[in-house]
Amino acid sequence: MAHAGGKVILFGEHAVVYGVPAIAAGIDRGATAVARHDAAAVLLVGETRCERGDGSDLGRAFDALLGALGADQISVDVQVQLPLGCGLGGSAAIAVATARAVLELIAPSEAGEDAARRRRVLDAATAWEQVFHGNPSGIDAAAAASGGCIWYEREHGPSALAVGCPLDLAIGVAGPPASTKEMVDSVARLKARRPEIVDKALQGIRALVRNARLCIESADVIGLGRLLDLNQMLLSGLHVSSEEIERACRLAREAGALGAKLTGAGGGGAVIALTAGDADAVLAAWQAQGIQGFAARVEATVGTQTGAPT
Ligand code: PMV
Repeated sequence: MAHAGGKVILFGEHAVVYGVPAIAAGIDRGATAVARHDAAAVLLVGETRCERGDGSDLGRAFDALLGALGADQISVDVQVQLPLGCGLGGSAAIAVATARAVLELIAPSEAGEDAARRRRVLDAATAWEQVFHGNPSGIDAAAAASGGCIWYEREHGPSALAVGCPLDLAIGVAGPPASTKEMVDSVARLKARRPEIVDKALQGIRALVRNARLCIESADVIGLGRLLDLNQMLLSGLHVSSEEIERACRLAREAGALGAKLTGAGGGGAVIALTAGDADAVLAAWQAQGIQGFAARVEATVGTQTGAPT
């Protein structure tokens, strides 16, 4: 059985598509997959079934993933522990868990996942993600494949980020998800129409991502919370927020969160709130207003050097 976690983008979504660095963190909830040799190549994700290359998006993605791994007649059963399509990296977690399960079957390794094997998993997951997102920055697949907290640049890929103290997050699903591709396209349209607005927002996000990195490394959670709020303001300026997202962020702050923002593509979907060590008050405030959520902790790293390859 193979597992891959989901992810939250702490800072820099959308801007990362234009080369601005972003910061993401893996979360435990994700997907587990089991692979077996089979006459057909069937992928079962919960109740959803497809066959390799059957013309459905899932079938095409499965075909791309198996092709990237050089695998043939293999069926995979996947169980998902995350709400899908909400910006929590469910699709990338499925891809990474599936790729790991397939490799376990066709190339069992006693040594675990070394750098070369991680590269194969990431390439296969990227091939899968391209079917759904067209032009993904790659941050989802990178976060699912590495876990931990990562600094991600489209051109250079991921590197590990040292985390000075645990980050306790409340993660809520603020509203129905929007399509990542549509949200990315809408920012591209805004950039074509009003480049001055988008370029200013991108500059602002670049500056706050740099500061967020310093806060994460130096365990400044108060500063980090403020930067989350600022990033949310800039994302609203890109028109990727929604009433539901703003409401969920407001509820979180009123319940004592240090900061809150959407995570992922926006337009609906998930929000994250940074808490001062206990996510329960935020989760209760959300629950009282019909917003489902769960707690996630980004663990502090001991002895990790920022910049070490993941
Ligand atoms: O797939 P999501 O919802 O986690 O969003 C991905 C983040 C974006 O920056 C909006 C798109 C991308 O490819 O990086």
